[in-house]
Parts: sequence; structure tokens; C-alpha cells
Amino acid sequence: MTLRQFLLILLLTEITSADFSTSFKNFIISKYGQKMYEDLARNDLKDSGSYGGGDHDGNSKTSRRAVILVHGTTNNAGTFAGNKEKLIQNGWSEETVYGTTYGSGSAAVTPAPEVSMKCEFIQQVRNMIEVVAAFTQQKVDVIGYSLGSPIARKAILGGNCVDNKNIKLGSNLTSLVETYISVGGANKGSFLCILPITNACSINNGLFCHSSFLLDINKPKHYEGSNVYSIYGPSDDKVGLLNVCLSKNSRIDKADGEYTNAVGDHDAILRRTMDIQMAYLNAH
Ligand SMILES: *[C@@H]1O[C@H](CO)[C@@H](O)[C@H](O)[C@H]1NC(C)=O
Repeated sequence: MTLRQFLLILLLTEITSADFSTSFKNFIISKYGQKMYEDLARNDLKDSGSYGGGDHDGNSKTSRRAVILVHGTTNNAGTFAGNKEKLIQNGWSEETVYGTTYGSGSAAVTPAPEVSMKCEFIQQVRNMIEVVAAFTQQKVDVIGYSLGSPIARKAILGGNCVDNKNIKLGSNLTSLVETYISVGGANKGSFLCILPITNACSINNGLFCHSSFLLDINKPKHYEGSNVYSIYGPSDDKVGLLNVCLSKNSRIDKADGEYTNAVGDHDAILRRTMDIQMAYLNAH
């Protein structure tokens, strides 16, 4: 191989690799251990498992606050690569946009009706928030998409896990989060959960509007960060506007702002409201 070929391969690997950067990987391993790195990087999902870190070495504050994208049901960090790219085109950098994957990350492995909000998913997102805040040496912003919103909110809230009360997550992470944004979030349930009959709609840790999990995260107010926003729309076909308890699924009580007129179906809301998401992030 010539030097030119070698450099070309190196360059292409840099561009196509979606794993954490080498510096972020080394930081996690030295501070939290190999298992934490493997759990967060999710290299079992190849390029879709995770991203973030850039050239930052973890020894100083990043030039701006990092934003952590939390994916929804049956998908993974890679599903939001387009949203990540949009941020990078608008002033963020590889050092300041992060994602990890909780769960199987695939509908083929775990179909949507089987996905409830498990303790291990919450722990995964919680670890990610703590590790990114330590690496960037400042508060973070968090965007929760779809099912990722109730999961991220519980991760920030802490307390005991709902599906396993013996597991204590720890105290809330409110002081680590500057801005929290829910996008098409299933914060109070999903209109598809008419009866609590599947895992996804479980009365314990599912999206049935009276579930223990949803009561747990909606009772305390304004703990998601210093600034809290929710973006949703009337034509959402997965979370839906109203649930059988007649509350608005995506509403977060005491939020600082709501954008309620997002255009299009669920997936359109997640992907085509980046301008609104960035305006909320840039407001602080
Ligand atoms: C979060 O933790 C802070 C500091 O421990 C505490 O003052 C606050 O009440 C907690 N908020 C919630 C909603 O638990």
C-alpha cells in the first residue's frame, strides 16, 4: 500500500465511522472502565450504535454545550444521523453531538408492541448524560424523540426504577441539563394504547396513560433541565394528540414553551422540526 492509499483509507474511515471518537473512547475506559465503554458504544450495532466525541480530549470545556439525541422505540442512534448532520451544518461539531442506543435497536429483533420502558434503558441514557457532561466539562442539552422522551425524562429524574423498585438510579440530574426538548414525545402515553394489553402499553412501565411509569415521571414538575420544551403536532400517527385519559400525549406540564403545530405525521415531526429544535437550543 502506498502512503497515499493509506491516507485515503484513513480519511474514509474517519468519515464513515459512527462509533465514538478515539479520545472519547479512551476517556470512558480510563474513567469508567471497559464495560461502560462497550455498553454505551454499542458496537454490536456497527455504525448505528453510537456517535460523538470528536477531537476533544476531556481535559477542558468544549467550545459549546453538547447535545445528546435520545432515539425512540425499535430504532437506534443511527436513525437520527440526519438530525445530527443538520446540527453539524449549523454550528455544532463532532465534539458536541452525541448518541447511544438502548435496547435491541431493531424492530426485527424486538417488535414495537414488545418494547416497554425497562430499567436498563433508563440506566443507559442516564450513564450517557453523566459521561458526556464529564467529558465536555459542562452541562448538556438533551433531545428526547418519541419513546426516547419518557425514557430520557426518567433518566434525568432518577429515583427507583418503576419495573424493578429494588434498583435505585440515584438522585436527579437536573443540574446537569441546561435545555431539555421533547419531540413527538410519548410523555403522557400514546393514543395506540387504548387498553393496557401489550408490553408497550403496560399498566406498569408502558405507554398506557395511567401507567405507573407515566405517573412517576409526570408528578414532579420541571425537573428535566433549566429550560424545558415540547414540540408536537396534530397529525402525529404514532403517539397521537390525545389518549384515553383525555390528556395530550406530548405535553410536559410546566414546560417553558410548546410548539404544538408541527406539520406532518410522527416521523415527519421527528425529522423536519430541526429549525425549531435548534432555535430552542440556541435560546440559552
Ligand atoms: C432534584 O434534586 C435537587 C437536589 O438534590 C432537589 O432539590 C430537587 O427537589 C430534586 N427535584 C426533584 C423533582 O426530585
